[in-house]
Amino acid sequence: MLFESILRPERRKYKPLTTWKNGSKASTKWIRIKSLSIKQWLFISVVFSITSFIIFSHFLSNSSLHGLIRIPPKPKFKCYSNEDPLRASLRRITPNTHVSKFQLRLDPKVLVFVETQYSKLGKQITEILESSRIKFKAEIVGKSLPLLTNLERGRFAVIIFENLNKYLNMNKWNRELLDKYCREYSVGIIGMIQPNDEKRNGVQLRGFPLQMDTGVAIRDFRLNPLSPILRVTRAGEVQFGNLPGDDWVVFYSNHTSYQPLGQAYLQRPIELYSNDVNTNETNFIPKKKLVTTVIQDHGLYDGIQRILFGNGFTFWINKLLLLDSISFLSHGKLSLPLQRYILIDIDDIFVGEKGTRMKRSDVLELLDSQRRLSLLIPGFRFNLGFSGKYYHKGYADEDYGDDLLLDNADKFWWFCHMYSHTQPHLYDNITILENEMKMNHEFAQVFNLLPLCYVLDSAVLPRQTCGLYTHTIFLDKYPGGRHKLDNSIHGGELFYSFIFNPINVFMTHLSNYGNDRLAIYAFESVIKFVQCWTNLQLYTLPPLPLATKYFQLYPEESDPIWMNPCNDKRHHSIWSSTKSCDQLPKFLVIGPQKTGSTALYTFLSMHPTIVSNYPSPETFEEIQFFNGKNYYKGLDWYMNFFPVPKNSSPSYLFEKSATYFDGELVPMRAHALLPTAKLVAILVSPIKRAYSWYHHTRAHKSSIALNFSFFDVITANEKSPKLLRELRNRCLNPGTYAQHLERWLSYYSPQQLMIIDGEELKANPVLVMNKLQNFLKIEPYFDYKLHLRFDPKKGFFCQVIHMNSTKCLGRSKGRVYPPMDSTAHKFLRSFYLPHNIALSKLLTKLHHPIPSWLEDDLSTGYT
Ligand code: A3P
Repeated sequence: MLFESILRPERRKYKPLTTWKNGSKASTKWIRIKSLSIKQWLFISVVFSITSFIIFSHFLSNSSLHGLIRIPPKPKFKCYSNEDPLRASLRRITPNTHVSKFQLRLDPKVLVFVETQYSKLGKQITEILESSRIKFKAEIVGKSLPLLTNLERGRFAVIIFENLNKYLNMNKWNRELLDKYCREYSVGIIGMIQPNDEKRNGVQLRGFPLQMDTGVAIRDFRLNPLSPILRVTRAGEVQFGNLPGDDWVVFYSNHTSYQPLGQAYLQRPIELYSNDVNTNETNFIPKKKLVTTVIQDHGLYDGIQRILFGNGFTFWINKLLLLDSISFLSHGKLSLPLQRYILIDIDDIFVGEKGTRMKRSDVLELLDSQRRLSLLIPGFRFNLGFSGKYYHKGYADEDYGDDLLLDNADKFWWFCHMYSHTQPHLYDNITILENEMKMNHEFAQVFNLLPLCYVLDSAVLPRQTCGLYTHTIFLDKYPGGRHKLDNSIHGGELFYSFIFNPINVFMTHLSNYGNDRLAIYAFESVIKFVQCWTNLQLYTLPPLPLATKYFQLYPEESDPIWMNPCNDKRHHSIWSSTKSCDQLPKFLVIGPQKTGSTALYTFLSMHPTIVSNYPSPETFEEIQFFNGKNYYKGLDWYMNFFPVPKNSSPSYLFEKSATYFDGELVPMRAHALLPTAKLVAILVSPIKRAYSWYHHTRAHKSSIALNFSFFDVITANEKSPKLLRELRNRCLNPGTYAQHLERWLSYYSPQQLMIIDGEELKANPVLVMNKLQNFLKIEPYFDYKLHLRFDPKKGFFCQVIHMNSTKCLGRSKGRVYPPMDSTAHKFLRSFYLPHNIALSKLLTKLHHPIPSWLEDDLSTGYT
């Protein structure tokens, strides 16, 4: 037992500091002091006061002395609405749920109209959505609108305008279309009135019975407790004092459609201009009148609900109100949950430099803080990470601190690091790594930590920082000053971490609990602030149940997502030096199947600088990594399909897997690993594609395809046998092109995507390959005219091998089968009609010519 022998004998037991008082020395001093006269006492006091004054006034700015008299800050935030019964009664007891039947026809997505790709407010809005995991599509307000519906479903549950003026000044056609969509699907609009320095009053909002004053300065902000929008945000509290900026826009209306959400008093009265030249009277809006900064339009005027913000996000609460507005207008489809789970890790409880570690008094305060926090978060405990090697490595009082922690071990949760706190990837010897783990295990055994320890197998939860690092230990030295930490607590970064993340695992270090005990200050303050301003319910869980909870909330996150290690400095540093990030494709041919993807693959491989992957024993030329089970084989598995590019002969790696096109997760996964890759899709008539697929499965002896006619397959319904339904889906689903392309385009920009007309590839592959070379910006130019020739026997273009001979694709490509019967054709024309309409709109939006097969399918689809 390594630790029994080494650690036990040395371990100092915690002894109370006060023992010396009972000793004889203390008693003698006490007798002498008692014998002093009152005059002597007075004299000593005066001398002491003067000396102290001189010393303090001279040295107070000196940091070393400042350190000696350091008093850790106390969490000072006070929630008035908790103490004032009148205000407490104003707030809603049960937060609004916002759920209504209208959400059933809406997709959980927000459409954000931004002014430009880089506009500040637009970026802030999309960042808030991203942080809250709310899906969105950002569109630059322009000539055309994105597709708003998809087969009787509204594609967006809420619409946000970064600048409301862009909505008000939209061209008539688009405005009518958008308003019609909002009315039909009961979708609301959030509009930002851009802050305005110009002081104007009584400005009418174009087309609405609503007036605004601009360039206003306000103070003492509060929420309207009767507003149905409030959900996460809790009414009752007032933010006293001036609000940032004097560029606020405030709203007025006599119409019953309007209801205030955010209100404040004016810093100065507003002078109202009078149009009447005969009167010299000046009217004022007095300072004492409440004005509205965020207003709700119930839609009584024109049938559309709107929420208007009279400022951006310079004031912290507006972000919270934006999230509640999204929840309200989406009928609860995009509501954040109200439960929040908090775990505070003290990452390295023994790892710290001498002089910065926790002393006994710090440990006592840690225990007391834990007790106070457990009154706010039931069952709260700190979660301590330990590396045994650093136990007892401080000054005497710090070592006593270590002992006091271990004496109170059962009051905390514990988790294991390596014995000497080295990161596991830094070991190049597995035996040493195992030994390190064994030693820390033994340490845990000796100090009875094992039953209190939580070991996460492979579940790793994301952790948040709270703005405190190992070296941020004194309040007066906090980077950016104390107000920076306070701002983070009172509506800033730390506060919003609670808002955005249903599960917060905060990372702190022991030095944050010694010294100025900044972690205690920060957490107690922010939790009080959260409970004052929000309806969030705070809970805690030990690491393992917390991980279970996390993956229940985000089941998709239990799946790995492979990203390029070279795109992140920290990832790159733990990436093996023998691996290269260039072993990845520069472009993907994504299919779909039966459109000519093998022909394109073959033609590309003829190019001297284009190199495809090595073949797979199971799926031949296709790797099929981003869809299906292969993804779980990992990044190394994928990379091994590609040669390491040589500097001497630059090569352009690519991969073709035709099943990528309609794979639900593929665009997200592909984008995570290959964000700058180019994409190539090939489209033929979806009717033809379905028929080709049917014959393909028959040729592969699928019993279900052999036993059922094409018409039986495509008309299979929910009562049909499972295998038949599956075949129908695989036959028909890839052909809903617009839907799949939209998914790719929600990850990749249109500039990264090339759409090839499969009929053109058949009829004029040289032209298509030239366009593709241009799109890929590939060098040297390869003259396909010399290398492709039409083979009358095959009926397709084939590779020229010699003057007189060509090499064509195998028998499985360009099959001969009877023409499709007219009933099946008619059925498919109307089945694909809405999808083809959507495709035609999408291609127009992408400035892509409409292929002739699409025009044919559309013109005959209506009959
Ligand atoms: P059919 O076999 O139904 O005629 P994929 O390679 O994506 O599976 O697509 C197969 C289809 O590619 C064939 O469908 C055929 O029509 C088309 N194709 C296009 N160019 C071709 C070529 N040069 N040789 C053979 N088939 C080609």
